[in-house]
Amino acid sequence: MTIDLAALPEDFLWGTATSAYQIEGAVADDGRSPSIWDTFSHTPGKIDNDDHGDVACDHYHRWREDIALMRRLGTNAYRLSIAWPRVVPGGDGPANAKGLDFYDALIDGLLEAGITPSVTLYHWDLPQALQDRGGWPARDTAHHFGSYAAVVAERLGDRVQHWTTLNEPLCSAWIGHLEGKMAPGLTDLSAAVHASYHLLLGHGLAAQAIRAAAPGAQVGIVNNLSAVEAATDRPEDVAAARRQDGHTNRWWLDPVHGRGFPKDMREVYAAASGVELPEQPGDLETIAQPLDWLGLNYYFSSTVADDPTGPAPHVRTIRRPGVPRTGMDWEIDASGIERLLLRLTQEYGARKLYVTENGSAYPDVVRPDGTVDDPERQEYLIGHLAACASAARKGAPLAGYFAWSLLDNFEWAYGYDKRFGLVHVDYRTQARTIKGSGHRYADVIRAHAERARNAA
Ligand code: IFM
Repeated sequence: MTIDLAALPEDFLWGTATSAYQIEGAVADDGRSPSIWDTFSHTPGKIDNDDHGDVACDHYHRWREDIALMRRLGTNAYRLSIAWPRVVPGGDGPANAKGLDFYDALIDGLLEAGITPSVTLYHWDLPQALQDRGGWPARDTAHHFGSYAAVVAERLGDRVQHWTTLNEPLCSAWIGHLEGKMAPGLTDLSAAVHASYHLLLGHGLAAQAIRAAAPGAQVGIVNNLSAVEAATDRPEDVAAARRQDGHTNRWWLDPVHGRGFPKDMREVYAAASGVELPEQPGDLETIAQPLDWLGLNYYFSSTVADDPTGPAPHVRTIRRPGVPRTGMDWEIDASGIERLLLRLTQEYGARKLYVTENGSAYPDVVRPDGTVDDPERQEYLIGHLAACASAARKGAPLAGYFAWSLLDNFEWAYGYDKRFGLVHVDYRTQARTIKGSGHRYADVIRAHAERARNAA
């Protein structure tokens, strides 16, 4: 498999990504308050092995070592998230100076290492104090998010240019409020739809706040999208695929592009639970702030069939026989990332795209010689990079790729057993070991730079 490196711009961002709760640990240090994920992960039975993020990768204390790892990989960008409960522990109200100091130092450390920081404001760790006041189903949370965004942008905006408001709001709304498999663990369609609405309203308010505090900021939103196929060409399955596309993709893309919430999906949700959107005048304009770029998190594609008796959106995922899967049991389909990048370009007119996450989990082990060999992850990585380059060749304005993840980390409801890192973490000793895939990624980055040098 070769990657058409010539299709990628010279100033391409080659990055890795992480999120605060998954790596930082230090959950009670320096004034951080509990988030919904502290509560959820400490609720028995919610997480495999009852794992939690109390220590995680101890990145809060080891960030210098982690920046050194990024340098060894040769990456020139790093996508991190800010823990809202570290910075504004009450959710609204006074900022916590020590929390801000941590991110301030981290940003300086990245810049000194020649690594461009890309900052995400919300990667699922809502302060528990706000959950206690209604969480995302409550409109006030969107406004508190806007105020928190202002606090962070005022402090970091002189050095950070790349800003993400929300990471994968689908997971916060659908998995957290409808499927109950993520914090806050609700199974209530009305709450989920209201949460989805206020998340996107919060996105718009945060985008405004970032731009007010940091002129020149490049603001985007990150969605985890899926290429959806119908299991058969029966009209019922074709309609199911359309609904799944609405639930997973269009619900999140249309409103931020000024198209409002998809009418077909509003009808599906209303028919299932009577829920209406909590719309107020001006909201749709707020949600549709201009986007400097769009972020795509891609892991798998899905094939669905009609399931009239199942919960909204009434679809059943079909396992395609013979298709290889990762350790998450997710189908491997590199063509999906190419199709989605092209769709965002053609259907949504994206002016700039980043693959903000892409990666695979496997049960890696450190061998007696101290190395970690992960051929399946290497194949996944190269296959998906090749598909990205192919999309760029066909016209997708792809400006960067962030591998998920820099480190093995706390994989939410799956705990620590699912390892996504390019760097292995021994959770007993916190020793870090660059895996074969990390070395392979470094080779690709080097080859791309060399190409550019030779072309000059
Ligand atoms: O670990 C997650 C990340 O937090 C969000 N995107 C998907 C990753 C793998 O499941």
